[in-house]
Amino acid sequence: MQHNEKADSPQLYSWEASSEKDTIGFAEALAKLAVPGTVLAVDGDLGAGKTRFAQAFAAAIGVRGIVNSPTYTIIKEYEGEHLPFYHMDVYRLTLPEADELGLDEYFHSEGVTLVEWASLIEPILPQERMSIQIVTTGPDSRRIICQPMGQPYESWCRQLEMLEKVDEGEKPTV
Ligand SMILES: Nc1ncnc2c1ncn2[C@@H]1O[C@H](COP(=O)(O)OP(=O)(O)OP(=O)(O)O)[C@@H](O)[C@H]1O
Ligand SMILES: [Mg+2]
Repeated sequence: MQHNEKADSPQLYSWEASSEKDTIGFAEALAKLAVPGTVLAVDGDLGAGKTRFAQAFAAAIGVRGIVNSPTYTIIKEYEGEHLPFYHMDVYRLTLPEADELGLDEYFHSEGVTLVEWASLIEPILPQERMSIQIVTTGPDSRRIICQPMGQPYESWCRQLEMLEKVDEGEKPTV
């Protein structure tokens, strides 16, 4: 993981996922930290893995059954074990349409909201959120770049960074 230390620029935390399994592991680690009102603003090119990430996150918070891409439905609501899960894909929405849908109610709810293509509706996203960019770096490899915006997201990133260090420390040296 690399951590941008510059005080005047946003703090970015990046993870290298060398396989789909790594992406799933990262989503699971993040899911352990989820609390009511969590907002995950996910971006990345077509096929980067936004939906795959959402599926792994949903499974980890106890959503049973299939989590499909909500590209056509825009919003899908699920029940997790302890928290509701709201999965959005705003790719087909204009900003006024998104505004009219009242997405704000989800952002300020007791559930976890994950938005695919979140940057398209940036002006109506809550100020406090975790911005997650998935970058395709190879057929099965991805770079996951998180920008925590406010708490608790800042501390989550630091915790995840520590987890990664523990993992690395446990790796056998060859
Ligand atoms: N490291 C990885 N992380 C996530 N997905 C991966 C990885 N490696 C391969 N994949 C594959 O990439 C594809 C990602 O598709 P997915 O539908 O999640 O993308 P998306 O970003 O949601 O696309 P869209 O913009 O169309 O919604 C899946 O087929 C998945 O199996
Ligand atoms: Mg998708």
